[in-house]
Amino acid sequence: MNRPIGIIDSGVGGMTVAREVMRQLPKEEVLYLGDTLRCPYGPRPFDEVRSYTLNMIRYLYEKDIKLLVIACNTATAAVLKEVQATLPIPVVGVIHPGARAALKITKRREIAVIGTEGTIQSQAYAQALHNIDERVNVHSLACPEFVPLVENGAVNTHEALQVVYERLAPLRDLSIDTLILGCTHYPLLSPIIKKFMGNNVSIISSGTETAREVSTLLHYSNRSYTGDRTPRHRFYTTGSSEMFNRLTSEWFNQDIEHIEHIHLD
Ligand code: DGL
Repeated sequence: MNRPIGIIDSGVGGMTVAREVMRQLPKEEVLYLGDTLRCPYGPRPFDEVRSYTLNMIRYLYEKDIKLLVIACNTATAAVLKEVQATLPIPVVGVIHPGARAALKITKRREIAVIGTEGTIQSQAYAQALHNIDERVNVHSLACPEFVPLVENGAVNTHEALQVVYERLAPLRDLSIDTLILGCTHYPLLSPIIKKFMGNNVSIISSGTETAREVSTLLHYSNRSYTGDRTPRHRFYTTGSSEMFNRLTSEWFNQDIEHIEHIHLD
């Protein structure tokens, strides 16, 4: 089936998932939409996040996508179940894949989750982890300063190092062995996060596991592209297309030729 896969996020963070989908499924075409204009979603009330997310979904659905990835934890926590129940195509979120990856790797079942205020308040990770294994001890921490660092392209700065070290300080006193990056923006800060956490803590970002789930679902629903082609990915943003241009050329191994600024109602 040669229809594209739709991927949405509040901004650039979902590109960490898109990159993994494109790596694992090199023949599939991706339509990516980042609502940069209204980012961050994390501090917003859930009904606002819901309405913005449904806006994005409508936009991509009209472009005839065959599967949707909600590559934003905050949006996943707000609308995943509802969208899965109403959209007639497979819909994948990032929370369950992230939880599964953490459970695969933890040895002592001591897991911490960092995310936006919305994701942490929703307790969606604790629920996803406990649904699979109720013996897990889950520690949660909201990190509201991290998304602006990423959206402003400040991930390699001294400011980023200071902010990350300060915010993660409470995790030092916990004896966790696994840390879930429960926001798709955070993998872009992972060199600093890893340095702070040290070698005894495994860092989980849901991109790899989410892409695996996409691959499995495409296969089982007979939606995989089986021909031979170089896909033409299309990236849309409600914010600056120059910024998307710069970031995609830094983060992807291939040129994204189509980057377009759009308006969402
Ligand atoms: N990247 C998003 C997430 O995974 C949200 C960041 C934001 O808009 O606050 O939660």
